[in-house]
Amino acid sequence: IIPALFLGYLLGSIPFGLLLTKAAGGGDIRHIGSGNIGATNVLRTGRKGLAALTLLLDLLKGLTAVWLAQRFLPGAMVFAAAGAFFGHLYPVWLKFKGGKGVATYAGILFGLFWQIGVVYAITWVGALLIFRISSVGGLLAAIVAPIAAVYFRQFELVPLLGACSGIIFWKHHANIKNLIHGTEPRIGKSKV
Ligand code: G3P
Repeated sequence: IIPALFLGYLLGSIPFGLLLTKAAGGGDIRHIGSGNIGATNVLRTGRKGLAALTLLLDLLKGLTAVWLAQRFLPGAMVFAAAGAFFGHLYPVWLKFKGGKGVATYAGILFGLFWQIGVVYAITWVGALLIFRISSVGGLLAAIVAPIAAVYFRQFELVPLLGACSGIIFWKHHANIKNLIHGTEPRIGKSKV
């Protein structure tokens, strides 16, 4: 359990959004837009490719953590997934101020039970296309994930997914406030 948590955490805590934006000469993403280190905020720098890469790498680190556990620490996949998720949200390198977890959540879901990942991704992308607000997509997908686990009878995943989804809501409290006040920006808009 401990090695899986540690492995997951190590991978999950790599702040790709911050590193890529810095490397591309875009400054510190934490001082831009919402201050979040995720792809949505990287997009606010106007660098679409960089945002897409952030999304991909944040997703892949979750997926890789689960895959590595599956390969080398069988039976501990759930812990690697939890480690990666918490690593992304609370990275020790950034004084525990990490991202909001939507992309990394997708990665661990694809690793744990890909069908749940597909349902999550469809909800996420579908909501993004309909509402054009990143947080709405992430929040709706987070609601759907534990429900999908029940639907697919993956009951052992329900506690983890319930916890992850709850924490995603917690991490989005500022977004939820904005949504209530009608001030949450649409994708690509810089106003926050
Ligand atoms: O995954 C993060 C997204 O849902 C919201 O990001 O930067 O608008 O707070 P942001």
